[in-house]
Amino acid sequence: MSKEIVVSGIRSTGHLHLGNYFGAIQNYVKMQDAYDCYFFVADYHSLTTHPDPKALKPSVFRVLAENIASGLDPEKVALYAQSDVPEIPELYLMLNMLAYKGELEKVPTFKDKVRLHPENVNAGLLTYPVLMAADILIHRAVKVPVGKDQEQHLEMARNFAERFNSRYGEFFPEPQVFRFNSETVKIMSLDGTGKMSKSENVNATIYLSDTDEDIRKKIMKAKTDQGPAEPNAAMPDYIQNLFVLMSVTSGPETIARFTDAYNSCNIRYGDMKKQLAEDMVAFVAPIRDHAAEQQRDEATLRKILKTGAEKARESAAVTIAGARKLIGINYY
Ligand code: TRP
Repeated sequence: MSKEIVVSGIRSTGHLHLGNYFGAIQNYVKMQDAYDCYFFVADYHSLTTHPDPKALKPSVFRVLAENIASGLDPEKVALYAQSDVPEIPELYLMLNMLAYKGELEKVPTFKDKVRLHPENVNAGLLTYPVLMAADILIHRAVKVPVGKDQEQHLEMARNFAERFNSRYGEFFPEPQVFRFNSETVKIMSLDGTGKMSKSENVNATIYLSDTDEDIRKKIMKAKTDQGPAEPNAAMPDYIQNLFVLMSVTSGPETIARFTDAYNSCNIRYGDMKKQLAEDMVAFVAPIRDHAAEQQRDEATLRKILKTGAEKARESAAVTIAGARKLIGINYY
């Protein structure tokens, strides 16, 4: 039996951090054997914010290197750049004819952008969900591992698929969100102000590219308090988060030791953070160093992109041929 098709897009802006690692990449890594995976860097999407042309390639190569260093295996998944698959913009154009201005204007992520950047409300921003639908439907994917913030976009992809099907004939499966809830640990920012992925505070975010010193400094500055006032007290979010970070980087004895100390009101957060900092360094350093090594080896990254694009285009070509035929573009 053929494997189910999975698609996900990787943003090329911003450095990857622990929230990305545990929220997304680790899940991608778990999927790569069981599914037919297409993972791509969404470089066309990033053009909505007009990045510096000189910065584009380094950011694409960096995010690729960091994903590979985190365990994505280009031999198992198709790893490619969106801009290397011209069938995606072709399908985007077709889907744009089925997407309505009114529904696009209502999308919360669009409204946020309008509010934050009123000077750059371009049509690409408005049709961002259509391009995302094309990314997914181009492989007729059934599962899409995305976070909560992308669920509305996925619902729109289903709507566009359904609209295409009812106008031209059954063709696209309706892609569903792939959830990992139970296994996904949520990483909060170190200043206790919400999810690490949403944090704007670089000092409260641990990046996969941080030096050992950066990591130590950030962990030592993480928010704590005077400690629990009574045995077995409930943990405030920011303390809970330190234990979550320990649970993904430290050994079971270490976790048990500090949990016991907390529950018996003997915890010394300074000691806990020192231990966590060392375990975190041991966790991040190999990923960081592997990513740096990958990034220096451009020839290999280019080869990976090329092979990924070939695989993606093979699948995309079948979809485009089928869609053109259904639409009536079959002149020869
Ligand atoms: N919009 C997604 C994000 O901001 C990235 C993305 C682009 C994507 N195309 C996609 C995710 C297709 C899943 C499928 O994270």
